[in-house]
Amino acid sequence: MRHEDEEEFNQEINKQLTKKIDLLEKKWIDKRRMKRTDQSRKRAAVESVFDERTIFQLNKLLSKGVLRNIEGIISAGKEANVYLGTHESGKLAAIKIYKIDSNTSKWMRNYIIGDPRFKHVPSNVSKIIFLWAQKEYKNLKRAFKVKLRVPEPYHVKNNILIMEYIGFGETPAPKLKDIENPVNKEEIFEEILYFIKKLYQKAGLVHGDLSEFNILYHNQKPHVIDISQAISIHHPKAEVFLVRDIKNIFNYFKKIDVITPDPAVFYQEVITMA
Ligand SMILES: Nc1ncnc2c1ncn2[C@@H]1O[C@H](COP(=O)(O)OP(=O)(O)OP(=O)(O)O)[C@@H](O)[C@H]1O
Ligand SMILES: [Mg+2]
Repeated sequence: MRHEDEEEFNQEINKQLTKKIDLLEKKWIDKRRMKRTDQSRKRAAVESVFDERTIFQLNKLLSKGVLRNIEGIISAGKEANVYLGTHESGKLAAIKIYKIDSNTSKWMRNYIIGDPRFKHVPSNVSKIIFLWAQKEYKNLKRAFKVKLRVPEPYHVKNNILIMEYIGFGETPAPKLKDIENPVNKEEIFEEILYFIKKLYQKAGLVHGDLSEFNILYHNQKPHVIDISQAISIHHPKAEVFLVRDIKNIFNYFKKIDVITPDPAVFYQEVITMA
């Protein structure tokens, strides 16, 4: 194809995709949660995620077949939106798209600086966000490799992360915080303690934002998500993050009447490698 033709072709495809994405905005996958949130905030969030480059990349992923389709939106947040789509394997996938936002990139830098895996920290806003998506992908990979229950990461490109979808059909798994008194809460607590310990000892990571908000409840099992801010255990803030994760988890389970051990003893157990 001639260069001009190719450009025209891309522009046309992008126009079509933009239209399709406008429609996606109206198709909320999880209707149960839709009423509870501010619609205008959500609309604004949807609009701001799709800058031209993101549309271009999404389009490329679709034309290359990495993604078969994008069906609708699961969640719209401050930093990222999550969409439901189909991966080339035929499996449903969660597509997390980070917004290119300079305020977000500022605090992200603090998490990247000090992580021995990222020696060079870019100053460019979009490059930081791309690195962030890559960080989540790598963290998921590490956790998945040591058989922890996290979504399997499929693909990452710029600010777009494609991973295993946790849910049944078009109903995404609820967050743990939305489950009223889970029947097997003691088991879930044990699983999460195991997660914290194994993530630290085998994957060399601390989640850093672990709470009932970032755990999905699926098939009566907890699945930990949102692992982008996870840091290496050698990061200077690793200890502070670990203590905070333990506090959040213990507080939540205490609140739902699970008998919890001494968190300080558990902390020692985590940092003492067998
Ligand atoms: N793999 C997945 N399968 C199913 N649903 C998912 C998946 N990943 C994320 N979600 C849904 O999208 C929501 C937001 O994802 P995540 O927590 O990773 O992003 P976030 O940056 O914290 O977004 P927010 O600012 O909305 O909290 C989750 O609470 C969950 O409902
Ligand atoms: Mg989250």
